[in-house]
Amino acid sequence: MAENSTWKTLPADRGSLETLSASGLDYRVIDTADAAAFDPYLQAEMRGFLSGEQSDEQLAGMREGLAFRRFIGVYDAGSLERAQPVGTVNSWVTDVTLPGGRGIPMWAISGVTVAPTHRRKGIARAMLEGELRTAAAGGIAIAGLTVSEATIYGRFGFAPSTFATDWSIDTRRALWIGPRPDGRLDFMSREAARDELAALHDRVRQARPGEIQAWPGLWRRMTGLAPGQEGGKKLRAVRYADADGVTRGAVVYSIGEERDDFSKHELTISILLSETPDAYAALWRFVLEHDLVSVVKASLLSVDEPLRWMIADQRAATLRTSEHGWLRIIDVPAVLAARTYATDGDFVLRVTDPLGLAEGTWRLTIDDAGTGRATAAGGEPDATFSAGALAAIVLGGVRAETLRTAGLVTGDPHSVATLDRSFAAAQTPHLGLWY
Ligand SMILES: CC(C)(COP(=O)(O)OP(=O)(O)OC[C@H]1O[C@@H](n2cnc3c(N)ncnc32)[C@H](O)[C@@H]1OP(=O)(O)O)[C@@H](O)C(=O)NCCC(=O)NCCS
Repeated sequence: MAENSTWKTLPADRGSLETLSASGLDYRVIDTADAAAFDPYLQAEMRGFLSGEQSDEQLAGMREGLAFRRFIGVYDAGSLERAQPVGTVNSWVTDVTLPGGRGIPMWAISGVTVAPTHRRKGIARAMLEGELRTAAAGGIAIAGLTVSEATIYGRFGFAPSTFATDWSIDTRRALWIGPRPDGRLDFMSREAARDELAALHDRVRQARPGEIQAWPGLWRRMTGLAPGQEGGKKLRAVRYADADGVTRGAVVYSIGEERDDFSKHELTISILLSETPDAYAALWRFVLEHDLVSVVKASLLSVDEPLRWMIADQRAATLRTSEHGWLRIIDVPAVLAARTYATDGDFVLRVTDPLGLAEGTWRLTIDDAGTGRATAAGGEPDATFSAGALAAIVLGGVRAETLRTAGLVTGDPHSVATLDRSFAAAQTPHLGLWY
């Protein structure tokens, strides 16, 4: 979490407040220290995501785990349950890693729900525009989210900048041909796993464009230790330690029972983190060679997993790819200056943005071993992007030429190809978490 949390106390956006107030709705920041306001809020958010009513124990756990965030609710005074908002959104400032390994503060948005009784009246639009204006007012250059409904966010200038794959592996067919490292594997308690994962993730995410800094309550949930969380006891945790006994990777998984054939259990990975190639190989080999397991499932893997090259039959794995990490650029010069580039260059980029936040023409000059500087400029652009198209390419995982072919970027093909050479990231961008 960004150290300075002045963002938490930023007031409700005036524009959204006025828009919603014109429809008789009240838009306000929630006091997370006030359980009488926060509990009904959390119930409304969970209902929005189609969950059942939360127990007191679950609410207490959520209050403790999430209170660090900034929560905004939209209230309808005419509702029978007036304490429950009809619209919810929460946000916080965290780091996202850019190519070159530098993290910049990102306005993370989560928990966007509108009660089905109040849908399609513009509540989500008012909340999302309010978030972006508030982030801009707080001096945050980029916003991000992960989505359960992918069709909504493009209209607000967000675009996918990382993609993820879900894997289902037939272990009998896969056959391990990867390295067999010397380090050791050991089971650990879920409490130990919670702490090891937090430390590992904080190292791993800084080396990978697209990853974000996690929040403390996440590891409690990942290990099934959140109050009232169901299914936690099914989780197992194993760590890999190198020759010096230092933890270099960990996996948390569960095994679903197959009653008809005890040799055909399914192992589902909740998370696998590794900071060395040895840890990666040892943990994947461990799950793929697990006795009595015939299927291994994992989600949110990279689109460029080394695992593909560690199994004899790549067709043993069925992959499904989808967009995952969505970004929204708010301050173009700040974001372009924060990443590094593969080649020197000099480009004039025009950015269009119906919300006005990223709108402008910018000269990007890259020199001094890949450092970029962007300043407002005039003249003919080499390429024109929507705010979303620029967000798609900023991590280096999507090529501007691809978007040009798709009709989302205009510009001279030679300039766009040169731009792609500069923007290419040394590592495939990846985001391994939902938030
Ligand atoms: C998705 C949800 C937040 C939309 O709220 P809403 O208040 O009905 O949305 P709005 O009326 O403000 O609509 C905003 C825009 O998004 C569009 N939109 C809204 N929901 C959409 C959907 N499910 N699919 C496609 N477009 C959608 C609207 O048509 C509107 O477009 P426009 O302003 O360009 O004309 C709400 O339906 C909901 O809570 N769904 C369940 C939880 C969920 O999916 N949350 C999103 C998590 S990523």
